[in-house]
Amino acid sequence: MGPLAYVAEFAIEDEPLLTARVNAADLGGTTPIRPEVGATLRFLAAAVGARTAVEIGTGCGSSGIWLLRGMRPGGVLTTVDTEPEYQRMARQVFTRAGFASNQSRLILGRAHEVLPRLSDGAYDLVFCDADPRDYPEYLTAALRLLRPGGVVIFNDALGADTGSEEAESDEVPELTSLVRADDRLVSMLLPLGDGLLAAVLRSA
Ligand SMILES: C[S@@+](CC[C@H](N)C(=O)[O-])C[C@H]1O[C@@H](n2cnc3c(N)ncnc32)[C@H](O)[C@@H]1O
Repeated sequence: MGPLAYVAEFAIEDEPLLTARVNAADLGGTTPIRPEVGATLRFLAAAVGARTAVEIGTGCGSSGIWLLRGMRPGGVLTTVDTEPEYQRMARQVFTRAGFASNQSRLILGRAHEVLPRLSDGAYDLVFCDADPRDYPEYLTAALRLLRPGGVVIFNDALGADTGSEEAESDEVPELTSLVRADDRLVSMLLPLGDGLLAAVLRSA
């Protein structure tokens, strides 16, 4: 077995995560994060000691459970999605996973309308898991929302401007080049899924 296969088997989904996955399959239209991405989110949330996090793309709650499991006890996840039924399922699995109702703030709406209402510098972590074409816009929002030392993470980052036709292009995708070129950020790109891109906002 190659290392990436071991990586894929390292993280195991328990009952609440499996329920979230089944719910997502039943409803259709939303894809839960892979377990190895979840373990990475949990690790990063713990590493930055996250008390507050923003998620774009609640889905049926898989990534939210992983994030909450890495955050400090009592941490609060603010999570945005356009689909009420997904968020209803997410609320159920957060409870099933043992989180109090005041640990998740589920906001229904389009991210570009919701994010401007969130406070500057108030978040330890921002996780983006929606349409990769919107990621450059979410990067700008994350730079405003994060406190120094906070981390921004993009799932499927290499889908950001490849669409699919240009996936074979040698050009560096816009999102990755934006992140890499920004002196305020210390970044890494992991070969998980279609690229998991993470960056820490440097302290001044
Ligand atoms: C890949 S799924 C998220 C999966 C989720 N993170 C999980 O692990 O279960 C993408 C989600 O983004 C939501 N979405 C797409 N565009 C959005 C937007 N502009 N604002 C908010 N949510 C959006 C979709 O409704 C969908 O649930």
